[in-house]
Amino acid sequence: MSEEQQQPEHRSRPTSQAFRDFVAQGWAPRSSAPVEPATVSPYAAARRAEVSSAFPGERLVIPAGGLKVRSNDTDYVFRPHSAFSHLTGLGADREPDAVLVLEPQTDDEGNDAGHEAVVYFRPLADRDTEEFFGDSRYGEFWVGARPTLEDIEAELGVTAKHIDDFKDNVAKDAGSVSVRVVRESDVDVSAVVDQARSSQAHTDERTEKQRELDAEFARQLSTLRFVKDEWEVEQMRDAVTATSHGFEAVIADLPEAISRGRGERWVEGVFGLYARHEGNGVGYDSIAASGDHANTLHWIKNTGDIKDGDLLLLDAGVEVDSLYTADITRTLPVNGTFSEAQRKVYDAVYAAQEAGIAAVQPGNKFSDVHAAAIRVIAQHLFDWGLLPDGVSVEDTLDQEKGQYHRRWMVHGTSHHLGIDVHDCAGARREAYMEGELKPGMILTVEPGLYFKADDELVPAELRGIGVRIEDDVVVTEDGHDNLSGFMPRSADEVEQWIADIWKR
Ligand code: GLY
Ligand code: MN
Ligand code: MN
Repeated sequence: MSEEQQQPEHRSRPTSQAFRDFVAQGWAPRSSAPVEPATVSPYAAARRAEVSSAFPGERLVIPAGGLKVRSNDTDYVFRPHSAFSHLTGLGADREPDAVLVLEPQTDDEGNDAGHEAVVYFRPLADRDTEEFFGDSRYGEFWVGARPTLEDIEAELGVTAKHIDDFKDNVAKDAGSVSVRVVRESDVDVSAVVDQARSSQAHTDERTEKQRELDAEFARQLSTLRFVKDEWEVEQMRDAVTATSHGFEAVIADLPEAISRGRGERWVEGVFGLYARHEGNGVGYDSIAASGDHANTLHWIKNTGDIKDGDLLLLDAGVEVDSLYTADITRTLPVNGTFSEAQRKVYDAVYAAQEAGIAAVQPGNKFSDVHAAAIRVIAQHLFDWGLLPDGVSVEDTLDQEKGQYHRRWMVHGTSHHLGIDVHDCAGARREAYMEGELKPGMILTVEPGLYFKADDELVPAELRGIGVRIEDDVVVTEDGHDNLSGFMPRSADEVEQWIADIWKR
């Protein structure tokens, strides 16, 4: 971003030397208390070791990304790239413009000796600098004190260097050392890497090859996140616990949401309050969908009223400070009781979810979860006479010739969950869809049925009913653990949950 953009004309900063001298002095010494090592640091080191052994002898560049402009001189809250977060352990807000470099090492005989982890970033500026008081993007007066190089080294157990040294260091030996970069994270860093590479003989073929190597690198980093370590599972437990508090607060406020009008926004706000208070925020825009809005899968406008007798589909998750997010859906009768038609749809989705959750077993394939859940959905639709005449359950489940049931559940049943709500999305399709479930993987199981208000193929009593039930399930050595399973799921449990909260 240019200086002019950062500094609108109507703003001015004092420039006299007298002011500079004045503002630089009279401050208490900075704390000299040592920064404690982060609990994540040994886990992040183990993750880096996996990357190191997959790419021996190569220089690996993983940028955090930069600040993004929201409007003119106002930025969005910073969120580091997920690969950077995973491999450093740095979470919310940390650190704009930083770059993790895994620098290849050799032993005395010149043999490959792994990588040194170096975090380049913009450290805390001294008080006698212009940045200290004058830089609204990075300065301490504006955004608070950032860590020093020593702080980051102590916190993360890595080598820390000033970002100003990055360009020269990444370019050194670029002719002889292969350099890979996560391109999508920071265009400026990618440009620096490309420039360093251009010291090699430049051909279109070489550029294309390099892009392929970069893409493969990003894919591997995404794939590496399939299996979560114990620290990550704990983060997910925290995210789920905070999310359950948000859901309870929403239930407590349902009468208020109904009476105020624009109840969906009220629900979004109540959940967001808990998300922001107990975590970093929401892990994705909350879907607060009442009545027919539940049939719009990504209904995030949340502009609707909530009316007595509606179902409210709330799909929401708290992202904790480490950036791990829950992704949970409950479909709630807003007056506390399911109607007969609502319960009929709910019970079908619940049965499908039970089947999907049961399929979360080590050794099963990821796609088995969807296969188990969708079979139950298809069976119910068949039993209710909704599939076209002559189409059996097996017919509709046929991938090539069937799939009629998808009219009422067009989405998949599962996705990986972690730092990204749709985690590991960069992994190869075969590795994702046909991959074997392994202990430590965390998946959502989230079947649904969606009968739009204008769907003339379904009986009138079902029109306008949309139900999804979504839980976050970790694969264990001998099965699974539903991390959010303590939140009521069956129709009876949900009614009891609402009654209990309203009695408080
Ligand atoms: N909340 C988005 C999803 O369920 O995938
Ligand atoms: Mn969801
Ligand atoms: Mn989901």
